[in-house]
Amino acid sequence: MILEVAALTLAGTHFGVPLLYYYYLKSRYLNKPWSIKVDENYKPKVTVIVPTYMEAELIQGKLRNLYAQEYPKDLMEIIVIDSGSTDGTAELVEGWASKHKGVNLKLIREAERRGKAYALNHALKYAIGEVVVTADVDALWPNRALAEALKWFADPTVGAVSCLKKPIGSKIRGVEEDYRRYYNVLRVAESKAYATPIFHGELAVFRRSLLELLGGFPTDIGADDSHTATRIALLGYRAIVPEDLWVEEFVPNEGYFLWRARRAQHLIQHFVKTIKEARKHKVAKEFRKIIAVEFFLHVVNPWLLLTSILILVVSIVVFSLLFAAFVMILGLALLNLKHYRTWIAQQLFLIVAALRNLKSKEIAWSK
Ligand code: GDD
Ligand code: MN
Repeated sequence: MILEVAALTLAGTHFGVPLLYYYYLKSRYLNKPWSIKVDENYKPKVTVIVPTYMEAELIQGKLRNLYAQEYPKDLMEIIVIDSGSTDGTAELVEGWASKHKGVNLKLIREAERRGKAYALNHALKYAIGEVVVTADVDALWPNRALAEALKWFADPTVGAVSCLKKPIGSKIRGVEEDYRRYYNVLRVAESKAYATPIFHGELAVFRRSLLELLGGFPTDIGADDSHTATRIALLGYRAIVPEDLWVEEFVPNEGYFLWRARRAQHLIQHFVKTIKEARKHKVAKEFRKIIAVEFFLHVVNPWLLLTSILILVVSIVVFSLLFAAFVMILGLALLNLKHYRTWIAQQLFLIVAALRNLKSKEIAWSK
């Protein structure tokens, strides 16, 4: 009896908290108007930083994509920072730049690879834009994305803006899409409540003055984008993801599992660090709640599920409890439902990620 109650309580919490959080955010914030003053004509000077490591296949497409942005060329500077790619990425950038003289493009080549955040900080030293944007190579922006992202900075309370992601180009896209649907709602609703602690390096915009105040991007953890946005929110600025700012991201066909596990790993590092850091700040009440729940969802919650499963297994194997067997069979049968499958997969990624974190932080990850 006691085992069954324990297993059910753990499972109930595991599924209950994220569902409650989702419906709470959705009903309370998702359709609320933004309490931010946007100005469509606000056109600050912007530095787009493109970090590259072994991107020969996609880099020219990405430069073309940036070139097509509907934003005044004289207000836009591009810095490509390459960390010793051996596949000709830097040469392709040079070639492209020589054919597009109208673009203000600078290429910096690092001899040694120390990771994306180091590279961003290196590039930051040369940035002159009032706002700085990171642009991963493996994502494509709609032509108005930059203008749409920058209009929010007309409001001085906005410190950082990022995007929603639409997965493209892979057989596994369906799984990724389902996962994104849930998370995109959280991102927007959290932003309307105050700020979202999860950003996307595929298009992440920061006020340069704030980046400088923070001493650049963190190099001791993987989620440079999310952690920087969160630190900006802890300083009292809004860090938001608007509902209409989308980018397309290529999902890898091979190594999808490791890709997801590594990202989960970076998010765990980020939330563990954030919980400690938040204590030092006087934080907006809404944001404190958001950080607490997201910490729980990424760091604690997957283990409740695992513990519940282990208790059920012991109940069945050692004590032959019928009810436990019934719950277990129900849990397995539900795997036929897509949303449930997607959820369980994410828990698996988070558990693998936590274990991998014990071994390596994956600051410079394989491509
Ligand atoms: N210069 C440089 N040096 N660039 C790098 C390095 C490096 O050591 N490592 C990766 N990059 C570049 C890639 O070429 C790409 O343009 C961008 O950084 C993101 O790398 P991906 O390999 O595409 O990473 P991801 O999509 O899995 O990572 C996502 O999560 C990360 C945090 O977990 C993205 O959102 C990243 O922006 C984010 O940092
Ligand atoms: Mn990527």
